[in-house]
Amino acid sequence: MNKIIYLDAAASSLKPDAVIDAESDFLRNKYANAGRGVCARAAGADEMVTRARDAVAAFINAKPQQIVFTSGATDGLNRVRDILKNVAHPMVAVSDLDHHSARLPWMAAHLAGTVDLTVMPLDSQYNIDVTKIPYADIMVITAMSNVMGVAQNVAEIVRAAREKNPNVVTIVDAAQYAAHASIDVRAWDCDFMCFSGHKIGADTGIGVMYIKNPEKYAPDKFGGGMVSRVMTDEIIFSPAPEKFEAGTLPLTQIAGLPFAIDNAKSRPAAADLVKYMYDRLAKMPRVRILTQPDAALISFIVDGMHVLDFGALVGAHGVCLRVGNMCATWIHRALGVDGSIRISPGFWNTIEDMRQTADIIENVVK
Ligand SMILES: Cc1ncc(COP(=O)(O)O)c(C=O)c1O
Repeated sequence: MNKIIYLDAAASSLKPDAVIDAESDFLRNKYANAGRGVCARAAGADEMVTRARDAVAAFINAKPQQIVFTSGATDGLNRVRDILKNVAHPMVAVSDLDHHSARLPWMAAHLAGTVDLTVMPLDSQYNIDVTKIPYADIMVITAMSNVMGVAQNVAEIVRAAREKNPNVVTIVDAAQYAAHASIDVRAWDCDFMCFSGHKIGADTGIGVMYIKNPEKYAPDKFGGGMVSRVMTDEIIFSPAPEKFEAGTLPLTQIAGLPFAIDNAKSRPAAADLVKYMYDRLAKMPRVRILTQPDAALISFIVDGMHVLDFGALVGAHGVCLRVGNMCATWIHRALGVDGSIRISPGFWNTIEDMRQTADIIENVVK
């Protein structure tokens, strides 16, 4: 068996040693619940959570009280819908770049008859067309599609949405974007933004939901650690972010998160790896590339070969890439294909990985 070449960073990143070490140190030497006790261990756990929250706030240019820990982007994107449930029958704008996690919560609400949906047009390059932003009360903006790998102009889209409706609530799905470019929620001026830790090198089970004005919204979940006082018939919630963090947090995953952020900042996935693969694939027969040479990843199809067969053939040589519809039905439909093959390198990949992978693909498609 060949060595494994893992090229599926867009599904989940491998973990830097510093993340694994921080989690192991917390579990072995520092474990206690946070926000619950006064002993030295509990104080250490509180401090660890505070430090992680500060690191996330700095990473996205926000304030710590605007950072809510979730279990991932999907959790955050669903919770935003629940937090906004009091907006009466809103017009919700989505786009064909959306991952199922960003659009299905609103599609479900639409099917239940509580929201209207409108789809923002894409331009000829499959980017959200900033000149054709529709009126919306709530807008879902995918900052980078997991199939196209191109950063969207979020600030411009938000600005255009506000021109149509100054009160629009904007929700950014930054699950892919977070691994490739620095997020500046103030520059974006969005109302909510969600991403997953595991795609930037942290563990699974930890995510971030940024809320621009957390004091404006009521909690969507109830439980321990989110109230400052409870009477027989009155609840006084803690200030944000605690009021949005009912129950025990994923502490071990939070312990690793700042180290993943450091790694993501210092070792971004190299654009030259994508470019190398693009140039090799462009010369191969039957290969139709769906993405741009400067995208964060490469998506393609092979004429006359099912993507699952392709995945199995290269997988037999140790190449781990993603095939299928990637939970992104709409962009595949827009591209006129049922599914695709995706190569998404991460910080661990080398040009030699790409060379070997391209050689294997060349053999499979010839
Ligand atoms: C663009 C995008 N949004 C949301 C998600 C959902 O992320 P998670 O499964 O970590 O919640 C993904 C995962 O692939 C994604 O690529």
